[in-house]
Amino acid sequence: HNSARSEEPKVTPSLLMAVGSAVLGSLQFGYNTGVINAPQRSFYNETWLWRFSEPISHPALTALWSLTVAIFPVGGMIGSFSVGLFVNRFGRKNSMLGANVLAVLSAALMGLSQLASSFEMLIVGRFVVGVFCGLCTGFVPMYVEEISPTTLRGALGTLHQLGVVIGILLAQILGLEWLLGSLSLWPVLLSFTVLPALLQCVLLPFCPESPRYLLINCSQESEAHEVLVKLRGTENVAEDMQEMREESHRMQQETSVSILELLRTPAYKQPLMVAVMLQLSQQLSGINAVFYYSTGIFEKAGVSQPVYATIGTGVVNTAFTVVSLFVVERVGRRPLHLIGLMGMAVSAVFLTVLLFLGKEQLAWMSYVSIAAIFSFVAFFEIGPGPIPWFIVAELFSQGPRPAAVAVAGFSNWSANFLVGICFQYIEQLCGPFVFIIFTVLLLAFFIFTYFKVPETKGRTFEEISAGFKRAGAGGADKYSLHLPGCQEAELSPFPAPMPH
Ligand code: GLC
Repeated sequence: HNSARSEEPKVTPSLLMAVGSAVLGSLQFGYNTGVINAPQRSFYNETWLWRFSEPISHPALTALWSLTVAIFPVGGMIGSFSVGLFVNRFGRKNSMLGANVLAVLSAALMGLSQLASSFEMLIVGRFVVGVFCGLCTGFVPMYVEEISPTTLRGALGTLHQLGVVIGILLAQILGLEWLLGSLSLWPVLLSFTVLPALLQCVLLPFCPESPRYLLINCSQESEAHEVLVKLRGTENVAEDMQEMREESHRMQQETSVSILELLRTPAYKQPLMVAVMLQLSQQLSGINAVFYYSTGIFEKAGVSQPVYATIGTGVVNTAFTVVSLFVVERVGRRPLHLIGLMGMAVSAVFLTVLLFLGKEQLAWMSYVSIAAIFSFVAFFEIGPGPIPWFIVAELFSQGPRPAAVAVAGFSNWSANFLVGICFQYIEQLCGPFVFIIFTVLLLAFFIFTYFKVPETKGRTFEEISAGFKRAGAGGADKYSLHLPGCQEAELSPFPAPMPH
């Protein structure tokens, strides 16, 4: 049974509008990841001076600043873990819509903190926007995967990451000192998060609810049919409807699976491990060590205009996400993830050598360091950036999906938090060798991906979970490398056991 579909799926205006509106949430995640920078630090100093008539001590400033930075992923952990509370009760679309209350609230808190001379408001605002972004990283990929035709799920799923990287780039550019990153304008920079929130509130009401949610969770056949006709741009949606009905029948007993049930059920063990490991491979690759600390890294490598090199990182980041977008449906998830991890590992070795030699300050070396970081980031966006976010929704069928997205998102945000907190300390300990740790982790994740991660390209959700069941029941548990043009492997990413 293969999944050749009778009609080439189209990217209809309705589909584009729905995905486009949803990924405004991804943009928020990226923007708020990139927006925190230096001028807000001096605000702490000024406020302290004004309140206590003495300058803030160095340890107090470091502590308050670390809290401001780290509370964002802590919010993200809470938000991502909570997606299951909302998506079945209110639906996918209304969950996304409602979450914007948090964005508006956080924009107000952060934007008014300077006026109110209160860094507490800034810290609470960062927490609230973290919760919001945590919710977005669950809601958006889930919605996008559920409304996309099977053969476009990877490409459209990558738009979530494209939203993230554009958000980071916007924050890097707007955060330049002569734009909004100045001592007086940073509150405006932080409160800009309200704009995508308002835009999304205007657009989402015109977008359809997920047809899978309508049919499988709410048993609304005719509504689901109507939405599908619009999304697919054709009356001929019988195949999609049939597939959803089958899934619905098969999961009579598991319409919604709690996180505890997910963790306890043996059948979910394998896909859950894959989902969580892919999240860890994304974060423990060290990507955010680069995004949080790039300016410092560039300084150490002797780059004269580190801020602009940092913006260069954002541009490369965006460009290669676009590359991934165009090749993911042709090449598949597995090869791209493998290539990305290996390319990052090699780049990290180069970077280590350069940072080590960097003490000698040879002029040409600063350029090579920039090249090493650019290549590290480029390989990240080929696979490890976009794929983990959307593949979770692919690895599970409707029932366990929300719980799985929650657990995976929580793992991602926890690892993000860990890297953000630990990197500076580990760097103090290991000096230029800090990236060797990431190299070792990258190679370990490469091996895991090679042996355990199945190809999901072009398979329906049902086929993918059926593949796990077969693999779990003693079938082949190892997946051949999926190369472009290799038809055999494309049609059968879950090879049947060899006949004796
Ligand atoms: C991914 C990661 C995020 C990172 C970004 C960089 O979305 O989840 O933590 O900052 O990629 O592009």
